[in-house]
Amino acid sequence: MRIDIITLHPGLLESPFSHSIIKRAIEKKLAEVNFINLRSYGTGNYRQVDDAPFGGGAGMVMCIEPIARCIEELKSARQYDEIIYLTPDGDLLNQATANNLSLLDNIILLCGHYKGIDERVRELFITKEISIGDYVLSGGELPAAVLCDSVIRLLPGVISDETSALTDSFQDNLLAPPVYTRPAEYNGLKVPDVLLSGNAKQIEEWRLARSIEKTKTKRPDLLA
Ligand code: ADE
Repeated sequence: MRIDIITLHPGLLESPFSHSIIKRAIEKKLAEVNFINLRSYGTGNYRQVDDAPFGGGAGMVMCIEPIARCIEELKSARQYDEIIYLTPDGDLLNQATANNLSLLDNIILLCGHYKGIDERVRELFITKEISIGDYVLSGGELPAAVLCDSVIRLLPGVISDETSALTDSFQDNLLAPPVYTRPAEYNGLKVPDVLLSGNAKQIEEWRLARSIEKTKTKRPDLLA
């Protein structure tokens, strides 16, 4: 199995892959794990990868172009079974998900930072969104490491007794609304007009509506 991890902080990922079972799995070539530094795909002299959110608000949003360039380059070299975004509003990681992922050949993991990634990255590229729990970490690197660990240990030959792996077992209760940053249009996909309107009240209402909609769809238990 090949896992390509797109990250702004490859150093954060090194340790979990340099020890114990996971290290041995990589040495035995049962798993191949590559860290791809998103900064190399940034724009301009400063290799910019993030920008202020359309519609205003705190924090920065990771831009679509560097991520698109990076993913397109990877996809031009091989086929991927899944392109996974680690995010607190993804599906909760559980053993069934780890089992299913361990059957795949090639996957990409995208680690987010700041206030999130431009929503269009999710629309265009992401096939699966995974959370490791209902708490917010500083970025997707630690969750990616958790996900990799849960998957790699299931690969045949990684744990010596093959059966042993088989015998193992937020503030307002709303998920965050979609976020967008420049460009206002990408490959025909437009940022919702309301976010470009400058009308703070409408933007707030739109965000609340999207938050409620998203929470109803993805985590109705939070509203119960
Ligand atoms: N990024 C930030 N927090 C996260 C979480 N709990 N799970 C997955 N990715 C995240």
